[in-house]
Amino acid sequence: MLDTGTELSFDQAALAQMECLVSDLRRMYRERNDALREVTRAHHEALLRLALAADFKDDDTGVHIVRLGYLAEALALAMGQSVAEAAMLRRAAPMHDIGKIGVPDDVLKKPGVFNAQERTVMNQHPLIGAEILGRSRVPLFQLAAEVALTHHERWDGQGYPRGLAGEDIPISGRIVSVVDFFDALTMDRCYRAALSDDVALRMLAERRGTAFDPAVVDVFLAHAGRMIALRDSINHNPPCFEELVEHDQGMS
Ligand SMILES: [Fe+2]
Ligand SMILES: [Fe+2]
Repeated sequence: MLDTGTELSFDQAALAQMECLVSDLRRMYRERNDALREVTRAHHEALLRLALAADFKDDDTGVHIVRLGYLAEALALAMGQSVAEAAMLRRAAPMHDIGKIGVPDDVLKKPGVFNAQERTVMNQHPLIGAEILGRSRVPLFQLAAEVALTHHERWDGQGYPRGLAGEDIPISGRIVSVVDFFDALTMDRCYRAALSDDVALRMLAERRGTAFDPAVVDVFLAHAGRMIALRDSINHNPPCFEELVEHDQGMS
């Protein structure tokens, strides 16, 4: 039988070994999380650059997608979403039109009404976007794929690509479709000048319950002053691309 002194030193050695093991595991866990965050950050940066390339096809400044993210976040918060949910939408929304990378410029930049064939081509962009974004298991990119797929669905079921109606359309798509409509109307396009805020707000109100979720439109209109101020502040001082990605570190 071991005497007490030997038992104690045996226990102490076992304890020290256990502490060493736990500390190694902690370090490995930290390193694994750092590596995962870095991969997600790089993935996000690549997709944001692709979204920016798509946005440059019909917006000379590329700031539309930045405004869209911040406006979607503000609207989501005003609709009662949590800070974390709204922040994830801010990061996902800028990728909504990433699928336009697959739409030829003669269709994308056509002034006026599309013919049936052009409409078919244009209506593919949500599907192309969801295909590009939906390959990842990271929640941010899954949300971005959901937004890309549903931002042209309409409350009355007359949208595309799947003709979803009402609450079958995810709330992310219902929020982004409202801010996208307002922001697109109030910016210069290659085929028309920007409309005034008042005209755009009136057009939004007219589409309440047809194109758009009436509850989302009501909240946007109730906070229109704040939304316009936020848009203007981004226009005056747009964040640079690196800031957009840096801002997201540690939030995936
Ligand atoms: Fe779109
Ligand atoms: Fe857009």
